[in-house]
Amino acid sequence: MSIESTILFIADACPELRAAAEALAREPDYRVIMAARDGEAADVLNDAHVDLILADVESADFDIVAFLSRLRFTHPDLVRILLVGGEPGLRLSEALARTAAYQYLTKPLQAEQACLVVKRALETRELARRHRRLVRELKIGDDSTFLHGKPDGVAKGEASHFERLVYASEAMSELCGLAREVARTDLPILIEGETGTGKELLARALHFHSRRSSSPLMVQNCGGVRDELLHSELFGHKRGAFTGAVSDRLGLFRAADGGTVFLDEISEISPSFQVSLLRFLQEGEVKPLGCDQTMHANVRIIAASNKPLKQLVKAGQFREDLYFRLKGFDLEVPPLRARPADIPVLTEFFVRKHGGLLSNRVLGVSNDVIEIFKAYRFPGNVRELENEVRRMVALAKDGEYLTRRHLSPALATLRASANDRLALKPDGRTLKEMVESLEGQLVRQVLEKCRWNQSKAARELGLSRVGLANKIRRYALADGMTRAG
Ligand SMILES: Nc1ncnc2c1ncn2[C@@H]1O[C@H](COP(=O)(O)OP(=O)(O)OP(=O)(O)O)[C@@H](O)[C@H]1O
Ligand SMILES: [Mg+2]
Repeated sequence: MSIESTILFIADACPELRAAAEALAREPDYRVIMAARDGEAADVLNDAHVDLILADVESADFDIVAFLSRLRFTHPDLVRILLVGGEPGLRLSEALARTAAYQYLTKPLQAEQACLVVKRALETRELARRHRRLVRELKIGDDSTFLHGKPDGVAKGEASHFERLVYASEAMSELCGLAREVARTDLPILIEGETGTGKELLARALHFHSRRSSSPLMVQNCGGVRDELLHSELFGHKRGAFTGAVSDRLGLFRAADGGTVFLDEISEISPSFQVSLLRFLQEGEVKPLGCDQTMHANVRIIAASNKPLKQLVKAGQFREDLYFRLKGFDLEVPPLRARPADIPVLTEFFVRKHGGLLSNRVLGVSNDVIEIFKAYRFPGNVRELENEVRRMVALAKDGEYLTRRHLSPALATLRASANDRLALKPDGRTLKEMVESLEGQLVRQVLEKCRWNQSKAARELGLSRVGLANKIRRYALADGMTRAG
């Protein structure tokens, strides 16, 4: 193992133990610390990241079994090895069960045996960690086998993946480039964007591209969760802290120690929970419900919101100090309609994902379906596109192309207006009317792209703010603003 591991011996010093400790300390990858008393051991655990404890159950003046069994909750990742003397008996089985020990060694301790068991224990822990990590990665990309090879059918352009994010647009490529850079830092990240744009997928990608990727990523949706429950989920609780708290709970912040916690729908937390979260972000302190002790957790927070937090701050519904703490760096995922270049590759990806291209069940997607998708607003963004494609694949017969016939009624009825928008066929109106209609549509598109930020849209359109306000009034575009707000 290349990373240094810290081993804590809790035992009264005796020659054989010292020999084992010295043998371990000679290994370049191990650091060995000795502690003889309760307080000493607790201090070491507070000050250092300990990987393994080797504890003499019969030694000393404190109850090591109780101490180690508490560590199961406070330091779940720590390997526990017991050192026992005499005949293994009933008390040993009880001690092994209570401490959930990895192994026990009997006295007199042999240095070679201690070294071998420690080495194997740390290897097993590392394997378990890697296994957990792979399972998580597979979970975010269980369609990975479909990602190889070039898209066929009608989809044009290469898909790029930042983790399992599929995209081909300039906007997403810029966003993912930025995300890759900030992933490496330890800054808290705020991800904003409409529903279904892929915020959670981006959060996972950030974690797996960070230095914390071998530690856990924990996800908590904050929407519609009572304060008490949210507090206990994140900060943990002591048994009996409230009705129904039948056992201690570690809490996600400490369970993810060294890793990342993703807080989804952050805009939904109550004012009082905003205070608790702010304290955690400032001090890194965790105080479980019903516990007077404060503990520390080193986690990176990634928060997401589909409501613009800045506006909630302006409206006095979200604390400004917390907003700035969360926004160490902010990433905004554009709505799907603002990045039509992603539509062909995403469609292709979802056709594959939902089994459409297996054994040529679906031959491809017709061009006009892609064009209709490009013209549609997709209020549910990528999630809505995925649902639409899944439905189309289910309806298609073997050997067919996906065509307009397979579209859901909502999209099929929009077809005419979509075509209008695309082709602007002369339809008997005057040229002036047609030009104005086009102008209205273009202004709307740019406003949507800028999430109704009028200064930004005005800049992009080369208009003054007053000029833009006039167009909004003239083409009755203000409805979008209230929806976005
Ligand atoms: N770029 C993408 N590539 C592949 N799949 C995507 C992409 N963006 C989103 N998806 C898929 O769309 C669905 C919605 O994504 P996700 O849950 O990340 O969105 P969200 O922004 O967190 O939504 P909400 O605000 O509703 O929580 C998921 O099934 C996700 O896999
Ligand atoms: Mg989400």
